[in-house]
This record gives sequence, structure tokens and C-alpha cells, in this order.
Amino acid sequence: MSNSQFFSNCGADSIRHAAAAIKAGHLVAFPTETVYGLGADARNPEAVKRIYEVKGRPTDHPLIVHISSIRQLDKWAIDVPEYAIKLARKFWPGPLTLILNRSQIVGDFITGGQNTVGLRVPSDPIAMALISEFEKISNSAIAAPSANRFGQVSPTSSADVLEELGEYLSEHDSVLDGGNSLIGIESTIIDCTGLEPVILRLGKVTKLEIQELIGKVSLQSGQSKTKFSGEFEKHYAPKANVILDKVPSKGDCYMAMVQIPTPEGVNRVCSPNSVEDFAKNLYSTLRKVDALGVKNLIVIQPEGQGLAEAIRERLLKASKGR
Ligand code: TXA
Ligand code: MG
Repeated sequence: MSNSQFFSNCGADSIRHAAAAIKAGHLVAFPTETVYGLGADARNPEAVKRIYEVKGRPTDHPLIVHISSIRQLDKWAIDVPEYAIKLARKFWPGPLTLILNRSQIVGDFITGGQNTVGLRVPSDPIAMALISEFEKISNSAIAAPSANRFGQVSPTSSADVLEELGEYLSEHDSVLDGGNSLIGIESTIIDCTGLEPVILRLGKVTKLEIQELIGKVSLQSGQSKTKFSGEFEKHYAPKANVILDKVPSKGDCYMAMVQIPTPEGVNRVCSPNSVEDFAKNLYSTLRKVDALGVKNLIVIQPEGQGLAEAIRERLLKASKGR
């Protein structure tokens, strides 16, 4: 079990305490509207090294730098194209990460040696307060991957974070509690280093929304040279077999939209009433099924475009193509 400090209902004092801890080189897990992140000082190589150790993640997988507002963009990125500024103005604060050419303050230890940096302004009030407070006392920002062990399901509550990382955190590290993540899946990632935006990871901000704003946008193809950890690992993989769009058998766990009936003898573990609700409950359902120690989770995938596509992308990885 962890010796790390735990703060719930984070008030100004716990935010100040957490920002000071990050400045001192410690780790702070914090809520965002997408999933919980594991934060460290983005300009402190030793602190960032601990993120990789605690996650068990290879150091060539880059981290997202979380900033407090669009005003910080020029500090961390150079040659920012006009369409990227448009995207930032429209979707920040929110579930969107922009990949940009890095400025000279961005170290190799953040980018895995690449010349680009991922930037995001989260909208969760605790995340916002923490990042703003840390920027005030540092001249830096917060580097944070999702607060799970490498290849595991992202955490959407502080309890999930402790379950994932508790044994790897030290007594100086802390976890901020902000309830369940509102969106429940990771941010949309857009590569903004070319003439047109390229979507690297689907999320709540949809291709259609980006298209409406910018005109042109494409999805990353298999041969793209951009390094992107999601492509290299079996991400979002629970212990149970996740099986998609099959009729469940007796004893199987089952997740399907609320209007779909439950076959007899099947353990219905989640019945989302909307696509948003599906995203919000997806990862906690995968965790629940593992806690139950059940062999199979049958998932009837949500239909449609946008967020539903992002959910299906996660499910495909969780099911390893099953
Ligand atoms: O919603 C989110 O994005 C959450 C919250 C905590 O902000 N963060 C998150 O971080 O999902 P992580 O590290 O688990 O996933 C970020 C992905 C990784 O696959 C990483 O390879 C990619 O973003 N990435 C980060 N910087 C990049 C860069 N410069 N170029 C290409 N991909 C990058
Ligand atoms: Mg992750």
C-alpha cells in the first residue's frame, strides 16, 4: 500500500501544498476532465524520470505538458501554425492535445528526443488551479501522462490511481481527488507540425468539429513517422477477455447501451444511457470486471461517429482485435 499523501475536496491549501511538492521535485496525481494524470515539473529531468519509473514506461514515449492557458503556448512551442491557434482558441481549456514544434525550454526528457511537444490546457477546476498555482511559483508547467502503469487502463478516479500506482509512489508524492473524470477517455491528439492537422488519437473533440473549424483534417495513417505510444503497446488491456459485439453466454459480464436487453444468466455490469455515459463508464467497467475476476466481458459497441468512434478505438485495443 502507498505512503503517499491523499487530498480530497481539494481546497486552496491542498493545491498550494501540491504545487510546492511538484516544485520540490515530487509527483502529484491529479484529476482532469479526461482521465487522471501523474504530474511532475516539466523542466526537472529527475522528477520526470520518476514519472517513467512509477509508470514503468519506456523513456522514448513523450509526455504531454499541461499549461494553464493559451498565453503559455509561445513559451513551449515555436512556429505555431494559424490553424493550431484556432484549435486552441476553440477547444482550450478542454480535451484536446496539440503536437507542436518545441521551444528551446523543452527538454529531450519530455519528448523522448523528438523535436515536437504535446501541449494541453485541461478544463477540470482542480487541474486548472494546480497548473496555475505551479506556474506562479515556478517558470514551468506540469508534464503528465495518464496515471496508470504502462499499457494498463487509464484511471478515472483517485481510487483507481491508488490501485494502479499506490505501491510505486513515495511518501512525498500525493494524489488529489476530484471525483470521477467527466469525460472518461483520453484527449484528442492533433499533430500540428504540418500544413494541415492530422489526428493521432481520437477523443471527445471530434474530426467533424475540427473539420468545421479548419476545413481540412486527416487521420494518421499506419506509416506516419510520428512516434505515438498508443500504437506500440497493447493499451487499455484488462485481464478479462474483452469480446466485441457477440451474444454473451451464461456467466459472462456484459456492457451495452441501456435499451439493449440482458440475456438470461448474464452479469450486466454497465448500461450507459448515452455515448457520453458510455465513455465516462468504460474504464471503470473494465476495472470492475477485473476486480470480479471474471473471464469474459462482452461489449456491444456504441454506434455512430465522433465520441463513439473514439470509444470503439479504445475497445479495439482492449479486445486485442477479439
Ligand atoms: O487526456 C489526456 O491526454 C491525458 C490527461 C492526463 O491529460 N494524458 C494522457 O497522456 O493520455 P499519455 O501520456 O497517457 O498519452 C499521451 C499520448 C502518448 O501516446 C504519447 O506518445 C503521445 O500522447 N504524445 C505526447 N507527446 C507527443 C509528441 N510530441 N509527439 C507525438 N505523440 C506525443
Ligand atoms: Mg496513457
